[in-house]
Amino acid sequence: MRVRDVKVHFPIKRGILKRTVGQVRAVDGISLDIRAGETLSIVGESGCGKTTFGQALVRVLEPTHGSIEYFGANGQGTDIAHLGETELRPYRSDIRMIFQDPFASLNARRRVIDIIGESLRNFGVSDEREVESRVAAMLRKVGLRPEYMNRFPYAFSGGERQRIGIARALAVHPRLVVADECVSALDVSIQAQTLNLMQDLQEEFALTYVFISHDLSVVEYISDRVAVMYAGRVVELSDTEALFARPRHPYTAALLAAVPRPDPRRARTGAATRLKGEVADPANRPTGCAFHPRCPFATDRCRSEEPEMRPVGAAMVACHHSEKLDLKGVTANAA
Ligand SMILES: Nc1ncnc2c1ncn2[C@@H]1O[C@H](COP(=O)(O)OP(=O)(O)O)[C@@H](O)[C@H]1O
Ligand code: SF4
Ligand SMILES: [Mg+2]
Repeated sequence: MRVRDVKVHFPIKRGILKRTVGQVRAVDGISLDIRAGETLSIVGESGCGKTTFGQALVRVLEPTHGSIEYFGANGQGTDIAHLGETELRPYRSDIRMIFQDPFASLNARRRVIDIIGESLRNFGVSDEREVESRVAAMLRKVGLRPEYMNRFPYAFSGGERQRIGIARALAVHPRLVVADECVSALDVSIQAQTLNLMQDLQEEFALTYVFISHDLSVVEYISDRVAVMYAGRVVELSDTEALFARPRHPYTAALLAAVPRPDPRRARTGAATRLKGEVADPANRPTGCAFHPRCPFATDRCRSEEPEMRPVGAAMVACHHSEKLDLKGVTANAA
């Protein structure tokens, strides 16, 4: 996917006339490429626009502005940002989403075969025997017994339910999967199993993942590249290893410092330091660099002039002073 200057603004309406009095700039100008076969993680604190951006990519939402060029299996690019529902149909099976909450995202009154089978039927598999055999095959792929297809969601644990959610997303053989906080609700041990499963499936089905998480420790393990979001924009985009060893944006460094590090080989140990200050309000963006009210390195220039994304070291960074900063990473061999 080639994403260019994507914005999603929500109008704020007030009064009996419902006049628009402002805009929540949930996503406010994101440009990046999603490479075939990679896992690109999107990280940032709650409220920075991750879910909204993910929903724009899968076109649950229509962006207010910008282009989202999707390259199909034939290599042909199509801007899907502003297509209508009929025109989007051919792309709906290629681009799928996995949701955070395995409880809320599965209909409690439907059996597993119908939950997974529904997407197959929606995409033209009409023979019920074929639906059944494909649901059974998909359940095996995610490590569940095919006999379970006649059960209802309540019969499963949280981890198993998330596997059903994954099976539902993958049943129609997508190429790009956007997973929004898909392990955040699970216990740590189940998280690791689920991530392993997702990585196995990625290899088997040649999937591209956009992996959304507020949890950097999960991201380190699964992603090739990381995009750090703040106030609706990407402030740092980098290879995962480089980002953890040598963050280039003060916000990335602050996020890393807030991750608990039980591993004694890591440079930073002990309890997590909480990130200070409030997340920027997307309805009332600070002037200049949106991070300036929380940034220990902010200068007058930061308060007035907005930093553009530019290359610093191996990363792309939106910070005026990045070169001059010696920010601490969390890996032992930090450069
Ligand atoms: N439908 C909506 N209408 C108005 N504001 C919204 C809507 N959806 C999200 N927002 C706001 O957009 C911002 C980003 O939200 P979201 O994308 O959910 O962030 P994240 O997933 O990073 O927590 C938040 O301030 C949120 O309140
Ligand atoms: S531009 Fe200024 S305020 Fe923004 S992150 Fe860089 S140093 Fe901090
Ligand atoms: Mg979210």
